[in-house]
Amino acid sequence: MGGAGQADVEGFALSQQPWGGRFGEEPDPLIDQFTGSLDVDRRLFREDIAGSRAWAKALVRAGVLTPDEQSRIDQALREIETEFAAGDSSEGEDIHMAVEKRLREKLGPLGGKLHTGRSRNDQVALDLRLYVRAAGTQLLEALAGLESALIARAEEHLDTVMPGYTHTQRAQPVLLAHHLLAYVEMLRRDRGRFADALGRADASPLGAGALAGSGFPIDRAELARDLGFAAASANSLDSVADRDFVVELLAACSIAMIHLSRLCGEIVLWTSVEFSFASLPDALASGSSMMPNKKNPCAAELVRAKSGRVAGDLVNLLMVLKGLPLAYNRDLQEDKEALFDGVDTTLTCLHVTARLVQGLRFDRDVMRKAALEGYTLATELADYLSRKGLPFRDAHHLVGRMVAEAIATHRGLESFSLAELQRFSPLFGADIVDHLTLEGALGSRDVVGGTAPARVREALAHVKA
Ligand code: ARG
Repeated sequence: MGGAGQADVEGFALSQQPWGGRFGEEPDPLIDQFTGSLDVDRRLFREDIAGSRAWAKALVRAGVLTPDEQSRIDQALREIETEFAAGDSSEGEDIHMAVEKRLREKLGPLGGKLHTGRSRNDQVALDLRLYVRAAGTQLLEALAGLESALIARAEEHLDTVMPGYTHTQRAQPVLLAHHLLAYVEMLRRDRGRFADALGRADASPLGAGALAGSGFPIDRAELARDLGFAAASANSLDSVADRDFVVELLAACSIAMIHLSRLCGEIVLWTSVEFSFASLPDALASGSSMMPNKKNPCAAELVRAKSGRVAGDLVNLLMVLKGLPLAYNRDLQEDKEALFDGVDTTLTCLHVTARLVQGLRFDRDVMRKAALEGYTLATELADYLSRKGLPFRDAHHLVGRMVAEAIATHRGLESFSLAELQRFSPLFGADIVDHLTLEGALGSRDVVGGTAPARVREALAHVKA
C-alpha cells in the first residue's frame, strides 16, 4: 500500500500508520479518534522518553545500535523532551507513536531503529511503573505533610478536653490531641500501604516485548538497574498484562481518601453552629450567593465527596481488568484516566485537608463544656463502684438510675453531693470527688492507647520520632 507523504525509507511514509504495510485502507476517522489516547497519555512523555533513552543504551549492549547511533538518538530524544515540555504537540495514536514520529522526523531512518525488539506493550507498562513510582513518592510526601499538620495541632491541644462520641452521641471525655492523633494513626497506615505498593511496583517490564520476550539479546537486569528498578520482571506475559501495581496504588489512594472524608466530615460538623467546636478562617471557607449569613466549609465538603470519586477510579480499573485474557489487550489503555484522576484527586485533597487542619480555630471553652454535658462521667461512677467491689453489671444499673434522676431533675452528675451519691450506694466515699471531674475521667483512662494525658503525650512523642 502506498499512503501519502514523504518516505523516510523505501516503502515507509512518515505520515503513514506504522502498521501500514499490512493494511490496505486509510483508518476511519471516527475509529482513529476513538482508539487514540494521546490526549490522555501525553502526560507520560517524560517517562516514555526516559524509557527510550535506556532502551537505546540496551540496544548498544545487544549489538543492535552503534554507540554513535545511540548518542544521536539520545540527543534527539532530549530535544523532543524539551519540545513536549514546552507544549509542542506532535501527533500520533498515543505518546509512544508521537515521540517516535518526532524522532523519525529528526533522524530519518535511524529513528526507525529505536523500536527494535520492543513493543508498545512493554513500553507502556514501563511508562506506567515510572509514573506510579513518582506519584507514589509525591503521595507519601503529601501524607507526611498532613500528618505534620495534625501533630502540630495535637501538640497545641494537649489539654483541650472534648466529648468523645459513639453513635454521634456524647460518650466520654477525651483530649482533642487524642482525637487528632487518631487520624495520624490512619495516615501512618496509609503511608505503609503506599510504601508497600511501591515496593511491588519496583520491577522493570522492559524487554518483555509484545508478550513473549524481546527477540534481541537484551540484558534486562542491567536495563532495570539503569532505570532505577530493583529487578527485571519475571514473566513476559505478566509484564505486559499486569496492572496490579496501579490497582494497589488506587486502593491505597481510596483508603486514604476515606480517611480524609471522615476527617473532613468532622470538620463540617465541628464548624456547624450546632457544634461550634471550631471555626474556619474566612480564607478557607466560602459564602453563599443568596444568604448573607452563610459561611460554608465547602473545601471540607468537597474532599468528603471526592473520596467517592477515587473509589470510583479504583472500581473502574478493576472492571477493566476483570476477566481479561492474557496478555495485553487494548482494554488496558483505559487504565490511565483512572490512575491519573485518582492520583491527582488524592494529592490535591491531601494538600487541601492539611490547609484546613492548619487553619482550624478550636474553641476550647465550648468543647470543654460539651465534654461535661451528656452525663459523660457516668462510666467513671460505674468504674469507681466496681473498683470498690460491686460487680460491674450492678454498678452499671445503679449509675443508670442516677443518670435517669439527673435527667429528670435537669442536673449534671458532677453536681451530686457526697450525701446524695451515698443515697444510691454506701460505697461512695470522699475520694469520689477526684473521679467526678473531666480531669479525673481522662486520668483514669491510663492504658496504652488511652486518653490519659500522660499516654497522649507518649503517643505524641512516638509519632514525632
Ligand atoms: N496506547 C496503548 C496503551 O495505552 C499502548 C499500547 C498499544 N499496544 C498495541 N498493541 N496497540 O495501552
